[in-house]
Amino acid sequence: MTTPIVDVHLQPEDLNAALQTDVRDGLTSTPKELPPKYFYDDRGSRLFEDITRLPEYYPTRCEREILDRCAGHIAQASGADTLIELGSGTSEKTRLLLDAMVEGGRLRRFVPFDVSETTLRDAAAGIAREYPSIEVHGVVGDFDHHLPLLPGGGRRLVAFLGGTIGNFTPPDRKRFFAELVSGFEPGDGLLLGTDLVKDVGRLEAAYDDSAGVTADFNRNVLHVVNARLGADFDPDRFQHVAFFDLDNEWIEMRLRSRATHTVTVPGCDGLEVSFEAGEEMRTEISAKFRRPGVESELAAVGLELTEWWTDSAGDFALSLSVLR
Ligand code: SAH
Ligand code: TRP
Repeated sequence: MTTPIVDVHLQPEDLNAALQTDVRDGLTSTPKELPPKYFYDDRGSRLFEDITRLPEYYPTRCEREILDRCAGHIAQASGADTLIELGSGTSEKTRLLLDAMVEGGRLRRFVPFDVSETTLRDAAAGIAREYPSIEVHGVVGDFDHHLPLLPGGGRRLVAFLGGTIGNFTPPDRKRFFAELVSGFEPGDGLLLGTDLVKDVGRLEAAYDDSAGVTADFNRNVLHVVNARLGADFDPDRFQHVAFFDLDNEWIEMRLRSRATHTVTVPGCDGLEVSFEAGEEMRTEISAKFRRPGVESELAAVGLELTEWWTDSAGDFALSLSVLR
């Protein structure tokens, strides 16, 4: 068995410095906001795993259905020898793609990239064991900062699954696509998972499940701020809110303070933040897409959409695009 290489571009100190700035900015703005990338500490990554198995959370199952059906085609059409996966998490569905690409005979290297070090190391080690014929090169980093540090060379396919692209605001998404493509060579491809606009009831249920797992996940950001910055958030004082914003076509997640109270954040120089009863702070958005929008955003950075697949119910799309 080959031991995977893991490059760590994010030291806990960097993460804390960034968290400190983001928390200070977010909690002193109106309305208050907390930055979403801090959901995924070890507990958060486990809670997300639980979310993917909830009856209400359809995206994971839909995307797996598409990969089951189309992985062979993707492997062939991309011709890639390197598979890079952004926000890879456990890379569970990705194994369908790895199987097809190994079968196709061209794959040499797999590069999972994630902000969550424990999850990434576990996934990289598992894949190195299961796929002894390929090199596994993990990268711990933040896609807001470290895309230029992805290993180059070869014909590359970048997979960005799970609808995570929807967690960017539209301007951030534009910057992200542009930066990603600035590192592409002609022929490199993007395999993008996008959740689609659909019935509001089903969308909202996917982000507000009856077992309360998504609520715990949302409140986990408060645990992270407590653990890293010594804050005294009482997560039970906040209620999970998720609604579909029809104008922006995104799910917006918020935490609503149940009572008037004050929170202290020692790690932000003792910042004191007061909450009114009923006050809401935004924690995450999850944009939902339509084909013309995806196609034009990709075209704006020079990517030509060559394939668009959906699951049988038409709930979720996987697209393949290529830099000409
Ligand atoms: N691709 C998996 C996981 C999706 S959850 C799936 O489809 O099920 C989103 C993943 O992105 C998590 O693993 C999280 O740790 C990672 N992530 C979130 N923000 C990130 C950032 N700024 N940089 C890198 N990874 C990030
Ligand atoms: N990328 C996932 C999505 O937008 C992440 C996610 C699922 C999520 N449920 C969540 C993020 C709840 C925050 C809160 O579907």
